[in-house]
Amino acid sequence: MQVGDAEFREVEKHKISPKIVTSTIPAHSVFIFLLTVVLTALVVELLPPNCTYWDWATNEFILPESVPTYAVYGKSPNEEHLLHVAKVLQRLGYKRVALQNEWDLLWAHDYPFFKMTNRLKDLTNQQIVNHVPGCGFITNKVDLSTNELTFLPKAFRLPSQREDFLNYAQKSPNALFVQKHNEHRHILIRPVKDINLQSSDTFVQEFVQKPFLVDGYKFDIGVYVIVTGIDPLRLYIYTGDVLFRYCSVKYYPFNASNIDSYVVGDDYLPTWQVPSLVKYYEHLDGNMRDSFDAYVRDQYSDPSIIWLQVEGIIRETVLAKEQQIAGILRSYKNLNFFELMRFDFIIDEDLRVYLMEANMSPNLSSGHFKPNALLYEQILYSAFSLVGVSSLVRGTLSERSHDVQEMITSAKNVATNLNICTKHGCNRFCNSDYCNLCLPCLTGSEYEILKRTHREHLHRASMKRVFPKPILNPENFDIEAEVQNMTKRNAWLTRWFYYKCLYDNSWCY
Ligand SMILES: *[C@@H]1O[C@H](CO)[C@@H](O)[C@H](O)[C@H]1NC(C)=O
Ligand SMILES: *[C@@H]1O[C@H](CO)[C@@H](O)[C@H](O)[C@H]1NC(C)=O
Ligand SMILES: *[C@@H]1O[C@H](CO)[C@@H](O)[C@H](O)[C@H]1NC(C)=O
Repeated sequence: MQVGDAEFREVEKHKISPKIVTSTIPAHSVFIFLLTVVLTALVVELLPPNCTYWDWATNEFILPESVPTYAVYGKSPNEEHLLHVAKVLQRLGYKRVALQNEWDLLWAHDYPFFKMTNRLKDLTNQQIVNHVPGCGFITNKVDLSTNELTFLPKAFRLPSQREDFLNYAQKSPNALFVQKHNEHRHILIRPVKDINLQSSDTFVQEFVQKPFLVDGYKFDIGVYVIVTGIDPLRLYIYTGDVLFRYCSVKYYPFNASNIDSYVVGDDYLPTWQVPSLVKYYEHLDGNMRDSFDAYVRDQYSDPSIIWLQVEGIIRETVLAKEQQIAGILRSYKNLNFFELMRFDFIIDEDLRVYLMEANMSPNLSSGHFKPNALLYEQILYSAFSLVGVSSLVRGTLSERSHDVQEMITSAKNVATNLNICTKHGCNRFCNSDYCNLCLPCLTGSEYEILKRTHREHLHRASMKRVFPKPILNPENFDIEAEVQNMTKRNAWLTRWFYYKCLYDNSWCY
């Protein structure tokens, strides 16, 4: 206290009695001084803002106010559908740059790997792209629909499976069929004789009759799905809400010529206009999924069986295509890719779920339905958090140095299963299979995968892990049976989650 007072008085004294400068200053010194000031100001002004400089006033280095950047790739000059992407990125501190510049994130609306092949094969460790090369195996309608998976309505590729189709149609006289094209959405139920069997890039699909209806309206549901890694697979779904789109015309009396009664168009009926859902969605502020679930319970049914099927279908679909995608990925150096898709489903009267399609770049425009803006921005927020585009740590992705990375996820967070590792001597030799999750035995890329997986788990926001599968009951979980049919790498990652889950059950799901 006393010392402080003394100091204070010292300072005051200086203020009160400044030294009086009596010597005269030559005019040219003043001129040189002024010139220096002006030149310094000019140089500081002209310097690019992104470099470190010494601030003479405070005697310290000023670090650049650098911001992370993103670029957009898309064929359409109209960017209305990217409005919410731009908004969310701006809020996360991102600045948009031209495609040819250096960027941290590439947001591509169209599949970018044909046009930008060389650049995307040569990503730096800090760059990330919102598509996975080869994801077309999932999102191509013909490829997907003509798979033999139980949850896909029966479909035939034209013209190659023409004979199979005609046989099937003959055996199932009550079946109805729609013809679909890869590129556009013209769908209409047609009699078999009116189907163009020669048309290429199309397929015929059996129409699911007796759909589950809400107030008489058929609907489809869109679940947002994100893939963050392939081989081993890391797959999540967005749980904050689900997009429900109702047909604008009642389904019965059924009339195959009235397409608006069974195909969801751009002008669909939103949840807030479906009479029985208004009270849940508007008055009680439920979301689309909760409003629907409440309606299903009102009909004395259990909606949870729908969501269990949905998760299973998403998992099976992506697993069925994983090895094909992995094949494409082999020619890429860095695997900083993620894929945000929307899987569209329909439900029949018995609450059986069918997968209709998977969309590669789901439309995130709220142009037509303003209330969807919140849904889209929340999805993006969760997705960016999960993949590390948004960060609580300031700076561009490349400035997040080793220490910063370690602060988020280090070897100690990744290590697991310590007793088994020592029992099999994995701290000395790695030849036992039991060692393949022990830290000294991991390859560099395996270690990176586990670090990324760990970081995703920490930042998953409203994303729920779908693969590796959540472990609901660790005590009764048979890990050997679980991994029995998996690829080696998927089994490896599934085990890692299992061991993490045994240590701490926040890792089970
Ligand atoms: C079926 O729908 C079409 C197109 O909306 C309409 O022209 C036709 O009259 C309808 N048929 C019946 C029987 O209602
Ligand atoms: C996206 O949706 C908006 C409004 O719902 C629509 O106007 C636009 O045409 C759609 N864009 C694409 C590329 O489908
Ligand atoms: C693995 O495959 C076998 C044979 O196809 C099957 O019986 C078994 O149920 C499968 N196990 C799992 C966990 O899917």
